[in-house]
Amino acid sequence: MSDSDSNDLPESSAQPETTEVERDEHGVPLNVPNAKRIKSFVVRKGRISPAHRELYAEHFAQKGLTLEGGKLDYAAVFGNDNPVVLEVGFGMGKSLVEMCQANLHLNYIGIEVHTPGVARLLRDAEEMGVENLRVYEFDAIEILAHCIPDDSLQTMQLFFPDPWHKARHNKRRILTLQFAETIRKKLKVGGTFHMATDWEHYAEQMLEVMESAPGYENIAGKGEYHPRPDFRPLTKFENRGEKLGHGVWDLIYKKVN
Ligand SMILES: C[S@@+](CC[C@H](N)C(=O)[O-])C[C@H]1O[C@@H](n2cnc3c(N)ncnc32)[C@H](O)[C@@H]1O
Repeated sequence: MSDSDSNDLPESSAQPETTEVERDEHGVPLNVPNAKRIKSFVVRKGRISPAHRELYAEHFAQKGLTLEGGKLDYAAVFGNDNPVVLEVGFGMGKSLVEMCQANLHLNYIGIEVHTPGVARLLRDAEEMGVENLRVYEFDAIEILAHCIPDDSLQTMQLFFPDPWHKARHNKRRILTLQFAETIRKKLKVGGTFHMATDWEHYAEQMLEVMESAPGYENIAGKGEYHPRPDFRPLTKFENRGEKLGHGVWDLIYKKVN
C-alpha cells in the first residue's frame, strides 16, 4: 500500500521498466507494466505468507479480473444486469466489502495495486459470502483504458487517494482534469463520481479540477463540498486521519452529458 510515507519517496523510486505483467507460479500478477507516465502509486511487495498466497490465488481465480481479459461484459461477469460501481484504490478493502454487503442490488469492481490489500479483500469477501464483487490487481489507469466500457458505470469511488503531499510530488496525484474526463466517459449519464480525502490541499485541488471539468454537476451545489454521506463506511485511512485530527471532505459530481 502507498502509505503516507510513500509520499516521501524520491522520484527515483519509480517502477523499473517492463512491458509484460510479471506473474508468480499461480498466475497472480506481481507487478504492473510500465508506461512512461508518472504513476499515482509505488508498488510495495508487502507480506503474504506462502499459505496465504495459495489461498489468494484460489480466491483470485473466482473473483479476479485481468487486463488480458479485455473489455468487460458485465452481464457475463456478474450474471445479472445490476448497476456497476467501480472503486479505485480500495486499500485493504474493508469499506468496499461493507458496501458490497449493504447493496446487494449493485455490482462492485475494485482496482488496487497493493497485493496484500487485494488478498485481504478477497479473503474477507469469501468469509462473508460476498458475491457481487470482482477485483483487478493492476494500475487503474490501464484498466480504465482497456477494460471498462464507456457510458457503463453507475458510480465511481475514489476514497482517500494517496495525497502526495510534498509539492514536488503533487504531480503524482491521481485526480487531474484528464482523469476526471476519463471517468466522465466511463460513467452513464446521471452516474456519479464520489471522492473523499482527509488532506485539505488535495480537497481544494479536487474541487478546482471538478468545477472546471466539462459535463459534470456538483450535487452539493457549485463550489461546495458534500456532507459526509452515511452510505460511505469509514475507511482505514479515514480512521487514521480522524485519529490525527484531520478533517474529511467528500465531493460528489453527477455526469450530465
Ligand atoms: C491512501 S490509500 C487509501 C486506501 C483506502 N481507500 C482507504 O481509504 O483506506 C490509496 C490506495 O490507492 C492505491 N492506488 C493508487 N494509485 C492507484 C492506481 N493507479 N491503481 C490502483 N490503485 C492505486 C494505492 O495502492 C493505495 O492502496
